[in-house]
Amino acid sequence: MRPIYLDHAASTPVHPEVAAVMLSIMTEQYGNASSVHAFGRAAKKTLNGARDSIAASLGCAPDEWIFTGGGTESDNLALFGAVSGREGGHIITTAIEHHAVLHACEQLEKEGFQITYVPVDGTGRVSPEDIASAIRDNTVLISVMMANNEVGTIQPIREIGAVARERGVLFHVDAVQALGSIPIKLSELPVDYMSFTAHKINGPQGIGGLYIRRGAPLHPRLFGGLQERGRRAGTESLAGAAGFAKAVELAVRGLEGRHAEALKLRSTLLDGLDAGIGKDAYHLNGNSGHGLTHIVNISFPGVQTDVMLMNLDMEGIAASSGSACTSGSLEISHVLKAMALPDKYLDSAIRFSSGLGNTTEEMELVSRKIETIMKRLRTKD
Ligand SMILES: Cc1ncc(COP(=O)(O)O)c(C=O)c1O
Repeated sequence: MRPIYLDHAASTPVHPEVAAVMLSIMTEQYGNASSVHAFGRAAKKTLNGARDSIAASLGCAPDEWIFTGGGTESDNLALFGAVSGREGGHIITTAIEHHAVLHACEQLEKEGFQITYVPVDGTGRVSPEDIASAIRDNTVLISVMMANNEVGTIQPIREIGAVARERGVLFHVDAVQALGSIPIKLSELPVDYMSFTAHKINGPQGIGGLYIRRGAPLHPRLFGGLQERGRRAGTESLAGAAGFAKAVELAVRGLEGRHAEALKLRSTLLDGLDAGIGKDAYHLNGNSGHGLTHIVNISFPGVQTDVMLMNLDMEGIAASSGSACTSGSLEISHVLKAMALPDKYLDSAIRFSSGLGNTTEEMELVSRKIETIMKRLRTKD
């Protein structure tokens, strides 16, 4: 049996068109975009072409986009870049952010900032009213993700952004998981910074981007050359940037088709589980009305997460316990904990995330394999 990859929220296969663009650049364009000779000028043209293309796809100006080394770097650059140089201040974020934001906030706290972690409801959704009432006179920044990577819950970004604008507070959004699933037109969003990464949308690993609204402050974190208008020093990854641009183009263009496909895969899995193990044997975590369709987070009460993951792996099915960073250590997810789920759901949650290459036949097979695993584990008890 061909292995079944259901961990697209962790990382995705590179799209063949992206790989083709990257291969041609890696083999034909080896100049440094900062060099003044013809090779350098060609590289600069490619880099600027990638920037223009992403800006057009996402609705911002090219000078509002900088390339980074990925989502983690974009989050860190936005948070530290927005507030550095201040004598402390107050920052608002949520309890369900990715560690790239949460751990950056912990560091900012050590550097003298106060942090409020706004709670979420049982579906992982934050309320704009709770954000509004957390704002203090010295609040300098709000950071809320567009969609959660573990349960897929989509946040009310427009409403939170409107509150931030009204109160004169900078607003950062981590859109790493949302890109390609939620339409994004940056010029119409009340957002000052937005983080992205290529490897969640069938682009290469190790390249990301940060949108910085014109006029929003940004203190650099890396010092060296004057690349990215002095905002992020270091030779840009030319193949990475061009591959990212192609991936964004494909992701934005194919958004509706992919949404329909993800819906089909999701319902095939859930229908299969209903028929095989029954509705009472599992619990769907997240928000069905406001959720990313390709992320299905399911608890199987009575079967510990690591046991289920190991059994799935033995059957050739790759799923996850939540974020890739925690899946190695199998700690209980901070996202599920913040949703205040009962213990029986907390310690038995599995994230299935679908994407390029998955088929309904695979989903049918996965539901049947889960049924077999559950039966096998029950007879062992
Ligand atoms: C919501 C979110 N933010 C940030 C990141 C970090 O992105 P990267 O892996 O590109 O550093 C991830 C990756 O899982 C994510 O899901």
